[in-house]
Amino acid sequence: PGMTGRVHDSRFDTVIALDGPSGVGKSTVSRLVARRLGFVFVNTGDMYRALTWKALEEGVSIRNPKSVVRFLNKKMDWKFHVHEGVLKIRLDGRELGRELRSERVSLATPIVARIPQVRLCLRALQRQAAMAGRAVLEGRDTTTHVVPKAGTKIFLDAPVEERAKRRYHQHLSDGKRVKFESIKKAVETRDAREINMNIMPKRRSPGTIVLDTSHLALHEVADQILKLYWRHHRGRRTS
Ligand code: DC
Repeated sequence: PGMTGRVHDSRFDTVIALDGPSGVGKSTVSRLVARRLGFVFVNTGDMYRALTWKALEEGVSIRNPKSVVRFLNKKMDWKFHVHEGVLKIRLDGRELGRELRSERVSLATPIVARIPQVRLCLRALQRQAAMAGRAVLEGRDTTTHVVPKAGTKIFLDAPVEERAKRRYHQHLSDGKRVKFESIKKAVETRDAREINMNIMPKRRSPGTIVLDTSHLALHEVADQILKLYWRHHRGRRTS
């Protein structure tokens, strides 16, 4: 670096940003891609979940944006570390994991995530995590807002029907009894809500490659992304 006189922002050359709607397999694919490249996997949704979890723990009224922002500025002492290739969040000495996935946190997180000051603050943290390079950032606004200069930007897409099918099978293999129709409804509702809440950007970031994952297994999606990544890199390398 520095020898080739490149004009683009090379800090983000080895950053992959991956976004797309809920239930498209972003996390699984990101994890696979990060592992194959030896990059850090940054799950941006976990940061929104962590803030929400903590706010709920401390009895902050999450429907009051002012209270949430005050809490975010005063009480949140973010600590991050990498464990087995994944960026982990530690708050007050406690490493967060399963508690972030509870139903209660999942339902409350979009309410917190729609607050503009929350988004600004967490995007800055996420960008910092990407600064060192060699990272895969996953989440709704990573290609548009967090790291629009990422060397590789991917939007994973799949129709509602397909995403609902995947979630349905996931539930079945977890041993849960569910109705396909109600899962599909939930996916549709979530899409609509995220678009209305400005969580899901309405426009693609320029240079983003859209991959329709309907007829691909998630490891095949990961393979395609790796190909795109290497293609981009061969194009850039000048020595
Ligand atoms: O991807 P996920 O389900 O873990 O995301 C949890 C919540 O956080 C979801 O309501 C969307 C929100 N989110 C967001 O607003 N921006 C991101 N970059 C990632 C997630």
